[in-house]
Amino acid sequence: LGLLDTKMKAKGRKYIGSAADPNTFNESTCKTILTSDFGCVTPENSMKWDATEPSKGSFNFGNADVLVNFATSNGRLIRGHTLVWHSQLPSWVSSITDKNTLTSVIQNHINTVVGRYKGKIYAWDVVNEVLDDSGNFRNSVFYKLLGEQFIDLAFKTARAADPNVKLYINDYNLDGPGTKIDNLIALVKRLQSRGVPIDGIGSQSHLILGQVGGVQTQLQRLAATGLDVAITELDIRIPKDVTSAKLSQQQSDYNTVFKACLNVPKCVGITMWGVSDKNSWVDSTFPSYDAPLLWDDYYNRKSAYTGADAALS
Ligand code: G3I
Repeated sequence: LGLLDTKMKAKGRKYIGSAADPNTFNESTCKTILTSDFGCVTPENSMKWDATEPSKGSFNFGNADVLVNFATSNGRLIRGHTLVWHSQLPSWVSSITDKNTLTSVIQNHINTVVGRYKGKIYAWDVVNEVLDDSGNFRNSVFYKLLGEQFIDLAFKTARAADPNVKLYINDYNLDGPGTKIDNLIALVKRLQSRGVPIDGIGSQSHLILGQVGGVQTQLQRLAATGLDVAITELDIRIPKDVTSAKLSQQQSDYNTVFKACLNVPKCVGITMWGVSDKNSWVDSTFPSYDAPLLWDDYYNRKSAYTGADAALS
């Protein structure tokens, strides 16, 4: 078995990455894996608004700095996550009622966060999950006060703060056909026609066992916009109870998803949403599912790893 990121680069792509933060890479086994198999890290929580600007104008970069130092001292890329998102948003922002205030708050937040790490980040998820499950605009404070233009504002501000970073729109449930991906592609086309500086589309890909068949077709549709695409938060959760048959299915599913990216030339990389099953968000959010990642609770490589590795080999 070889190292995932090295094999991905040999295919002419940019990286295989993982979500990380000090809470996970402070575990020595996790750190070892992050530096062996992964060439890119996404802060799982430390760059979100509630972490970086918990009260107005008062910034905190403690964990984000540790993550950035870890990545840069090990020669890893970083996907910044995320600048404008309705979730993990402090209440001082969600309670703003005035358009002009919100505009300057967004500008100051992006200028400060992007500016701090200028030149050190490969890509930013500028906006995250702007569409809801039905594919309509999410009724966030951003959309309520500023309409669709909040997206233009966010991208333009980010571009001015770091001219060389790749700027992404990121969302979930883009893995199968339907209104959500249709509306996302239409939105991206409107942004492009308005000259908004957007470079890529991130498909989170929080998948369910046995439901991965649409990934390649939909990635191809995203790539047809002309932008880069990336799988940004991959995991494949297993409905309990986990059996050896289901783990074999997961191996096959990971193989399918990794090949999907490789079969789409504009797919620059894949980010796993964590290393070990023991630290996955799935445990608390979907208690009837389990074991979504490539390493088990004890950091043993799963057959899922073999499936991913085989796609890259
Ligand atoms: O930091 C506090 C800690 O002080 C407190 O004691 C503890 C008690 O609950 O909570 C801690 O915060 C938690 C945080 O993770 C850091 O561990 C939050 O409760 C918890 O809700 C938060 O969950 C994160 C979730 O986003 C929040 O929406 C997950 O770790 C993270 O994996 C998940 O990631 C998101 C992506 O950003 C966007 N796409 C979906 C994906 C999965 O939900």
